[in-house]
Amino acid sequence: MQNFKINSLEEYNQAYQKSIENPSKFWAEIAENFLWRKKWHTVLKYDWSKPETKWFIGGKLNITENCLDRHLKTRGDKTAIIWEPNNPSEKAQHISYKQLHSKVCQFANVLKASNVGKGDRVCIYMPMVVELAVAVLACARIGAIHSVVFAGFSATALAARINDASCKILLTTDGVYRGSKLVALKDIADEALKVCPSIEKSIVYQNTKQKVDWNEKDVWWHDELKKVDDNCPAEEMDAEDMLFILYTSGSTGKPKGMVHTCGGYMVYAAYTFQNVFQYQENDVYWCTADIGWVTGHSYIIYGPLACGATTVMFEGIPSYPDYGRFWEVCEKHKVNQFYTAPTAIRALAKHPTTLVEKYNLSSLKVLGTVGEPINEEAWHWYDENVGKKNCPIVDTWWQTETGGMMMTSLAGITGQKPAFATLPFVGIQPSLLDDKGNELTEDAAEGILAINFPWPSLARTIYGDHERYKNVYFSAYENKYFPGDGALRDENGNYRITGRVDDVVIVSGHNLGTAPIENAIDEHKDIVECAVVGFPHDVKGNALCAYVTTYDNVQESDNLIAEVREIVSKTIGPIAKPDKIIFVSGLPKTRSGKIMRRILRKIASNDTSNLGDISTLLNPDVVQEIIENFK
Ligand code: WTA
Repeated sequence: MQNFKINSLEEYNQAYQKSIENPSKFWAEIAENFLWRKKWHTVLKYDWSKPETKWFIGGKLNITENCLDRHLKTRGDKTAIIWEPNNPSEKAQHISYKQLHSKVCQFANVLKASNVGKGDRVCIYMPMVVELAVAVLACARIGAIHSVVFAGFSATALAARINDASCKILLTTDGVYRGSKLVALKDIADEALKVCPSIEKSIVYQNTKQKVDWNEKDVWWHDELKKVDDNCPAEEMDAEDMLFILYTSGSTGKPKGMVHTCGGYMVYAAYTFQNVFQYQENDVYWCTADIGWVTGHSYIIYGPLACGATTVMFEGIPSYPDYGRFWEVCEKHKVNQFYTAPTAIRALAKHPTTLVEKYNLSSLKVLGTVGEPINEEAWHWYDENVGKKNCPIVDTWWQTETGGMMMTSLAGITGQKPAFATLPFVGIQPSLLDDKGNELTEDAAEGILAINFPWPSLARTIYGDHERYKNVYFSAYENKYFPGDGALRDENGNYRITGRVDDVVIVSGHNLGTAPIENAIDEHKDIVECAVVGFPHDVKGNALCAYVTTYDNVQESDNLIAEVREIVSKTIGPIAKPDKIIFVSGLPKTRSGKIMRRILRKIASNDTSNLGDISTLLNPDVVQEIIENFK
């Protein structure tokens, strides 16, 4: 276990204070807990006018030696990964640190034999099989840069990402079962590769054993493994060498390839993991995210493994074979820390609580959420039904760009408040700004969130487009990182993320964040979920439209509409009452569960001519239905 665990509120306060007063000294002490081939000569150098940020300069390391090799002596036989299959009748796998080390080294040798070396980009388009984690770590082992593309993306989206980084190799599988549905992953990859000239080879892991087309560049994973052994010394990397690229969508145009580097990312991912979840040596930790998202990178793979933890990797979905699956898995593997997304919680809360009560969840100690603001109703459902009011909930605010958690409570150490991400993590210096960029200095305030000082895991650039990096994150406010979110702060310094600042709608001259309105509507007993957007209005400038989903047995009625308007009026004020309330069977969502308000905004504005690419949505079909209902 790492020697940097925060055990009390007092220790948190001390650590926070120290991290602000002398960041270099503070982070140097944290970094001492890792395995470095050569120590850094300078802890931090930054200039956000360029912008440039460098941590642990001169330090040499390999992150896989920290995640694997150094555990071999003390916990070689400890389970590193518990893999839980999509189909509950198949067997789970327990992979020890020794076994994982061997698999990673062996596959690293496959990559080497495929002419992949330090600095080459490898695209990984794989479902949640163990080999996905192996592939990620194998790249890191030899200094190749992994670019994981979520296996739910379309051929067009995959090709754009491969081409943006000129990837040399593609790693994929024949197919994947998602619930009871068979997805022909390789067909999608084949389609993408028609327009990806940089790809020299495609290594295919045989997962479902379905029939696939075979092309000139394809080789089977298992055939390649036969040609190599599992002896692979780790490549020595500079702290500031690239570790991976991960794409995140921008508000306009093509996705942004966020670049993370080796040293700072490792230190921050591990330090946050250990302290936010209060992980202890024999705990079983489960993050339900997909490794295709940053949450999976930092908190399924790198953070937990760097701390020698046991991390669960789940291949399936929350609804298969029924909506009790998460809880069945928690019981089966005696999960201690459970980390999921508000959208999943809301989906589960829609179903009878008997599906939770059926399982023994007494192993649970800590619950977590990430990805979007959690509304109070979902928070309480989670707290009461899953945590039995006995597990602290960590509501962790962060981003692909930030690499690790930025604002969160530390489980059981710092306080919690429903729907509040609460306090800045150690080393994080947030501020709230008004429209003109002036810092709001009063204790309780609401404004635009900014971060005033570097932390180790900040993305260093957008791959191939430093200018865009500068424009998006460092140009809005001088010498501050701009995450694009709004927040409010209570008199005790707790932060609540109010949503993207671009989700603010000005109605009759009043600034209204859509998130609190949604939160109010979600409180209604008949409403499952909603999304509120603005649309142009002759008199008010903008008016609000609420798209709502209701429980199955609820009748849509004028009465219900009146009640929804009333609850908003009561919670926020009459000004926030939506002009339109549209009942829908589902809201359009990205694969990571974010509601696509952009599409809803266009529909509300009667502008459906150009909805953009909806093929990457989780539920593209719902868009047409919403358009119909709107008429
Ligand atoms: C939102 C996910 C409120 C926020 C790790 C952020 C949240 C964006 C929270 C990043 C939270 C994430 N409370 N909002 N706990 N966590 N967000 O890059 O708007 O997929 O800017 O990273 O999600 O999403 P991303």
